[in-house]
Amino acid sequence: MAKNATLTWDGKSYDLPVVVGTENETGIDISRLRAESGLITLDDGYGNTGSCTSEITYIDGENGILRYRGIPIEILAEHSTFVEVAYLLNFGELPTADQLVELKERLTKHQNIHENLKHTFEGFPAHAPPMAILSAMINAVGCFQPEVTQPEVDEHFLDSAARLISKVRTIAAASYTKSIGQPMVYPRFDLAYTANFLHMMFSRPNLPYDPDPDVVRALDQIFILHADHEQNCSTATVRMVASSKANLYASIASGVCALWGPLHGGANQAVIEMLSHIRDSGETLESYVAKVKDRKSGVRLMGFGHRVYKNFDPRAKILKSAADKVFKKLGIADPLLDMALRLEEIALKDEYFVERKLYPNVDFYSGIIMRAIGIPAEMFTVLFAIGRMPGWIAQWREVHLNPKARIYRPRQIYTGPQKRDYVTLENRG
Ligand code: ACO
Repeated sequence: MAKNATLTWDGKSYDLPVVVGTENETGIDISRLRAESGLITLDDGYGNTGSCTSEITYIDGENGILRYRGIPIEILAEHSTFVEVAYLLNFGELPTADQLVELKERLTKHQNIHENLKHTFEGFPAHAPPMAILSAMINAVGCFQPEVTQPEVDEHFLDSAARLISKVRTIAAASYTKSIGQPMVYPRFDLAYTANFLHMMFSRPNLPYDPDPDVVRALDQIFILHADHEQNCSTATVRMVASSKANLYASIASGVCALWGPLHGGANQAVIEMLSHIRDSGETLESYVAKVKDRKSGVRLMGFGHRVYKNFDPRAKILKSAADKVFKKLGIADPLLDMALRLEEIALKDEYFVERKLYPNVDFYSGIIMRAIGIPAEMFTVLFAIGRMPGWIAQWREVHLNPKARIYRPRQIYTGPQKRDYVTLENRG
């Protein structure tokens, strides 16, 4: 394989080093291009820009492959727990039995939030968006950890990671109980990660909640499937903020905000809203799809399409069969699930979706499962954030440990007015 690519511009040739990853992904290193030629590269939306090298997650979008630290997502979803996956993402290997016990102990140790943080909660109105509460509370939690996370010291980093991974579920559940006018439910030391979250969501002072093991497993799988996804919008945001040497909490809080948008993590909620809208309006699925295909309508089929996957999103495949199991176990018949299955069938046969390689993504089925579990749509993206936490933290650490890391600072092609005269106030208008 060639070691360099050659670019010819304005009568001169420039040799550009070619970088090859462990799975033979090949990129042209243009970092010296501007210094040598005056040219920058332009790639609106970063669709073809590698912003970093990374050892954490591998995606082959053409073939629907997703691996964390080399291990296929299907195997992790079937055999591992979310806590093991969190360790894998952050330390590169699945934990030994002792390492797993240590991580679980730290998660338990950090599961409560400082009592003073309850006052911060009280300041939010009951209808505050849970993603706003989550990002604000993550920064607030950071105020209670005066020591700066040392990414290079395993022990110290593990403790900080466990603190965030653990507390995020307490904060998430508390934002939900607040929104329904119920008191915050304290975590239990005897429950594992995901069961504990469900307990904090659904136990009430007068009514304990006993999580069904199959429901716990389905939610644990959802967390595993969301745990990392290389350089997506929120992860790239975390890395962008981390590159300025911002602390762990500030960087992760920014990731939460990026995830919030309906084109990213907010799509799981948007899928349910779309299905409910179709059901309530009495519109047929066929006419909705026709509207989606009419570019003037501005309507998109939520839960469909992906920047990287041009084949089935492997996470959607796993969730489709998980949804089936959960519905059978809970004995639920949800018309929205039937609609989703039919919508998928219609879209996958339609030329518009086929030629654009638009397949269901992770959000298409995750919301339907969460809804069956009893989680309200406003909380879906918050649950995505709980799942993504280990990945964000691992990516934050990778930036901090990279000896060659520089602040992320893209360039632009300026298209505004050229230099012009200043007009004083009395001469304007
Ligand atoms: N419905 C209808 N048309 C679509 C959809 C969709 N969901 N997604 C893409 N298209 C069309 C575009 O209009 C475009 O058509 P054109 O070539 O005729 O102009 C073509 O497919 C390519 O789409 P882009 O917008 O260029 O794709 P991009 O990579 O920029 O966007 C995205 C990816 C944001 C995920 C997009 O597919 C989308 O909006 N999907 C719906 C929202 C969603 O489900 N987001 C969750 C993504 S997964 C995640 O973040 C966890």
